[in-house]
Amino acid sequence: MNLREFITQTQDRGWLITIEDESDPELEMARILSKYDGKPVLFTRVKGYPYPVVAGVCSDRAYFALALNVPPERLLFALTEALAHPLSPPLVESAPCQEVIESTVDLTTLPILHHLPGDAGPYITAGVLVTKDPDHGRNIAFHRLLRLDERHFAARLVEGRGTHTAWSKTPGDLEVAICLGAPIQVLIAAATSPPQGVDELSIAHALAPTPLVKCRTKDLEVPAECEFILEGRLTHQLAAEGPFIDLTETWDIVRQQPVIEIDCITHRRQPIYQALLPGKLEHKLLMGLPREPTIYAAVNQVCDCRNVCLTAGGMYWLHAVVQIAKRHPDDGRRAIEAAFRGHTSLKHVVVVDEDVDLFNPAEVEWAIATRFQADRDLVLLENQPSSSLDPSATHVPGQKARTSKLGLDATIPWIAPDGHLRSEEERAAFRRIAYES
Ligand SMILES: Cc1cc2nc3c(=O)[nH]c(=O)nc-3n(C[C@H](O)[C@H](O)[C@H](O)COP(=O)(O)O)c2cc1C
Repeated sequence: MNLREFITQTQDRGWLITIEDESDPELEMARILSKYDGKPVLFTRVKGYPYPVVAGVCSDRAYFALALNVPPERLLFALTEALAHPLSPPLVESAPCQEVIESTVDLTTLPILHHLPGDAGPYITAGVLVTKDPDHGRNIAFHRLLRLDERHFAARLVEGRGTHTAWSKTPGDLEVAICLGAPIQVLIAAATSPPQGVDELSIAHALAPTPLVKCRTKDLEVPAECEFILEGRLTHQLAAEGPFIDLTETWDIVRQQPVIEIDCITHRRQPIYQALLPGKLEHKLLMGLPREPTIYAAVNQVCDCRNVCLTAGGMYWLHAVVQIAKRHPDDGRRAIEAAFRGHTSLKHVVVVDEDVDLFNPAEVEWAIATRFQADRDLVLLENQPSSSLDPSATHVPGQKARTSKLGLDATIPWIAPDGHLRSEEERAAFRRIAYES
């Protein structure tokens, strides 16, 4: 679903917050957005710019579900299917994203938000970069972009990931296209890390139709239904990037990062600029959602996994709930160990049975309260590789951070305290009694 359809659909459902008062991209919009975290917000009058601004597009599972036309609890399966069976997208001759070709490049004409007084400057945060790796082909990924002047950005490229790898092995400039206001399926696909050589735009097309068009000045293809495309080159010139708010809602440091030079801007007629509030729900959810299928796949190797949910309190990154159909007394413990393999940044995991709604934190807590015994059902792993994002982990410069990991098996205990295997009837006594409706 493209951004315009998304805006119309959320408006029809009464989900969209529309701000008609003039709003300023310089610090004011981010303040308003943080108040409405979790909701899509449309600013119709933007101080100093002719374009409306939309944000919060990815800030709830319900919005992804709407865009992909699946129930929220089935998102994991839609994504799993797309990752397993990517579909090559068609190439079209003319595209909405090229309705207007700007004769001169001037990045100050875009309503790029300055989010916090401590930031290095205005940042594009919902930009999806398309590049081509000389060996592995097309790659798409999110990269925050600090606007330096009318033609340049400093791009944050995390070392070892797709864009950084392609840039490192290219002696000259690496062609890049920055997609702004991309269809929702492209935003999800950009956050996945499939094996090298798997095209993320084919994952997007497997999720929902995503026709591509050739760039005007670069040998790259981009989703035809984006709002803006900035065509340029990732150079080997470096510039200071940061400080900027990170996923953890703490400051990320200043680093020397590659400069992007923009050569051409194309856009729709009356385009809509997309913002994304860094550190808040949509940043976290976009990061986490693509990890749910990897946890699911790992747990399915050892038992019957029914669903996986990374939770908001764990930044959709460090905490998960895994639901299994238990068939063996040890399945809960096996699921815990497998979940850690499926997402190496995972720190705490709770495993529940099929009768527990894993999306409801109170139900998960109820399962812990009524089915879990710490001396029997706790898995504690010490000194494990950790997410770099956990401030409480042990961080040594140049080394992978280390952490302890904890798993709670909150499934119905099949072994009774006296050691006997509980019968089905005995296990049924752990289930919640429902009132008649
Ligand atoms: C909202 C959002 C912002 C992100 N910002 C950056 C960033 O600034 N730099 C970066 O290297 N990765 C960033 N990422 C992570 C990459 O998009 C992500 O790791 C992607 O999966 C990399 O895929 P690749 O390994 O195929 O390149 C961001 C992810 C999201 C969801």
